[in-house]
Order: sequence, then C-alpha cells, then structure tokens
Amino acid sequence: MPVVAAYSGTFDPITLGHYDIIQRAAAMFPQLIVAVGANIAKNPRFDMEERVKLIEKVVEKLPNVKVKGFDGLVVDFAKDHGVTVLVRGVRTVGDVDYEKQMAVMNRDLYPRLDTVMLAPSPEYAHLSSSLVRELTGLGAPVEKLVPKPVIPVLLERFGRRRRKS
Ligand code: COA
Repeated sequence: MPVVAAYSGTFDPITLGHYDIIQRAAAMFPQLIVAVGANIAKNPRFDMEERVKLIEKVVEKLPNVKVKGFDGLVVDFAKDHGVTVLVRGVRTVGDVDYEKQMAVMNRDLYPRLDTVMLAPSPEYAHLSSSLVRELTGLGAPVEKLVPKPVIPVLLERFGRRRRKS
C-alpha cells in the first residue's frame, strides 16, 4: 500500500513557509493530505472553508496533494484517511519540544502513526501565520510572505493603505 502522509496545521492563512514544507513532503511521499485543523482554541481569523479553499488554489499544480478540513483528534483523521505519516515543520528549539510531545502522544494514541519533522528553508525560518497577519496590518509588503493566491484575501482582511512616499 502506498504511504499516505498528512501535513497538519491551522494554516490561518497558509504562508510560503507552509508551502515550502508541502512541496518537499509531496516529493517525499506518494500521497499527501494537507489536514486543516478547525482549532477553535486558536480563534482562527479565516474560517475553515476559506482556509481550505485558499490552500486548494495554492496546491492546484501538485497532483498528489489533497486538502481536507478536520475537527477533533488528528489521530482520528489519520485513521479515517489511511494516514501513517504526520508531517510537521519545526523552526525553533521551542517548536522541537512541543512537536516531540505531540509526536509521542499521537503515537501512543495510534501506534501506526509516525511523525516526520522537517526544518524550514532558511528564508522561512521565522515566518508564522500570526506574524504575517501583523505585518500585513502594519503595511509591510506581503509578496515574500504568502503564496500569490493568498495576497488579495490577506490584504482585504488585514491590509491598510500604504503611505505614498
Ligand atoms: N512555516 C511557517 N509557519 C509555520 C511553519 C512553517 N513551516 N510551521 C509552523 N508554523 C507556524 C504556524 O503558522 C503557526 O503560527 P501561528 O501560531 O502564528 O498561527 C504556528 O507555527 C503553529 O503551527 P500550527 O500548525 O498552525 O498550529 P499547531 O501547532 O497549534 O497545530 C493542529 C495545529 C490542528 C495540527 C494541532 O493543534 C492538532 O493536531 N489538533 C488536533 C487535536 C489533537 O489531536 N490534539 C492532540 C495532539 S497530541
């Protein structure tokens, strides 16, 4: 059976850092599902449907990548979709501790599920969705932060008119 991997996250919204991981994981595994967590606790600024649609646009040229939303435990999503590898990006030492805890817990809950952690490409090492929203609100250029299809939606929601120089 070909391995099915899932890259889980909140993607509020998807950034170039996430897309970097998606492309690399899609080259590694025959099938990759981008698993978009409802993650109500994080109070996402884009609703689930918006986040899924944006990612679908971003990955449309990657034939082995699908996008699906989920609510509840990531291990239940894995069981329902035949996923045996969970892909996560780790940017900092803090991320590693947190990810290790989740990887151990998820494997305890579902022993068939292993977690593969990828380090980001250096240019995206400090990127996060909340930073992207903040920078957009302060008028920073967004072209180096998010994939093209995300730009208009991000600017409409969080952008402010840039001052003329
Ligand atoms: N590039 C850019 N940003 C990245 C990144 C990368 N490669 N990797 C992570 N990030 C950022 C995200 O943008 C996010 O930033 P933000 O906090 O500013 O929004 C941050 O790192 C955290 O990542 P994210 O994946 O969005 O959130 P999370 O670590 O909270 O995970 C779920 C979200 C949905 C995958 C996780 O909560 C989950 O599995 N929930 C299901 C419930 C469950 O099973 N819980 C038990 C787990 S043991």
